Amino acid sequence: PSAVVKKLFMQGKVVTINQEIDFETAEEIALEFNCICEHEEVIDVIAELLKEEEEAADTLVTRPPVVCVMGHVDHGKTSLLDAIRETHVTSKESGGITQKIGAYRVDVNGNTITFLDTPGHEAFTAMRMRGAQATDIAILVVAADDGVMPQTIEAINHAKAANVEIIVAVNKIDKPNANIEKVKQELTEYGLIAEDWGGSTIFCPVSAHTKEGIDNLLEMILLTAEIIELKANPNRKARGIVIEAELDKGRGPVATVLVQKGTLRVGDSVAAGSCYGKVRAMIDDTGRRVKEAGPSTPVEIQGLNDVPNAGEIIMAMDSDKEARNVAETFIAENKKKLLDDTKHKVSLDALFEQ
Ligand code: GTP
Ligand code: MG
Repeated sequence: PSAVVKKLFMQGKVVTINQEIDFETAEEIALEFNCICEHEEVIDVIAELLKEEEEAADTLVTRPPVVCVMGHVDHGKTSLLDAIRETHVTSKESGGITQKIGAYRVDVNGNTITFLDTPGHEAFTAMRMRGAQATDIAILVVAADDGVMPQTIEAINHAKAANVEIIVAVNKIDKPNANIEKVKQELTEYGLIAEDWGGSTIFCPVSAHTKEGIDNLLEMILLTAEIIELKANPNRKARGIVIEAELDKGRGPVATVLVQKGTLRVGDSVAAGSCYGKVRAMIDDTGRRVKEAGPSTPVEIQGLNDVPNAGEIIMAMDSDKEARNVAETFIAENKKKLLDDTKHKVSLDALFEQ
């Protein structure tokens, strides 16, 4: 508004911010601002795309829950995921492409659960920052012989900030010094109160070693998913989140993405943060080549022009040009933000100097 007022002032028209001007003047001004408008339009398009639009209820179908495993170092996150995978991954491709994808699906009595095997909290933090809901349920792993530790608390805070359901898996119950009750007592301090302690948090005692309690944990995940009613529209342009990405020597940039809405197809033009491209090939969590991936499906894609950051939102666009536009605007916006931040810092520094 101030720029418009200024422009009018330069033309000798003194106006206030809420004053009406005639059509011709408005048109003239609009034309003068045209180049900016175009840029702003793209930003508007991105903002619009990023907005969690309400979808008509009749387009939504039930989708599998997306679960991530969190907890303190050495409490058994990887062992627990391995134990689940050993017992519940149905299709194993022998001699297929090495399974390196950081996400996989398990089948529990005909129901699918998608697990995110994110290294550290990097991706999760990025997801949280963008307010994107990549995970529906967090499994908080606490070793029964060690109890609540600093990273346990950090994990609780991350999950709470992302508004994710928490299921506690009290692991290593096979150990002689395991103390499940102590873990329950310690977690009351963080608002995670077990049902037998008068709360509503699900606690599952498990052992990744003996596999005791694993089936119960999976059942609890499915039960929770049923209660929170997870739905998505598979019949729209895909939108998802980058779980991890790297530059592969032979294949170029490859990104593991979790499709959240819509269906991603080979041939789709996509934008992911500052990157764009056409999906050239897709590999699923078993190493098989697939043509399409629906909601809650993790896939590895090839065809991006560069390596996107974990946590970046990936969107299928109408055309290559549009995808490129979105990526370029993203870069421009980030640069501007960086510049603004620097300016801000400089002025703050100047302030402190005085
Ligand atoms: P980071 O990825 O380093 O944070 O560790 P993590 O949480 O993934 O733990 P990991 O699965 O690597 O297990 C740590 C150690 O605990 C290993 O020596 C496992 O063998 C052991 N462990 C994991 N689960 C169990 C269990 O149920 N019982 C017993 N006795 N040991 C376990
Ligand atoms: Mg681990």
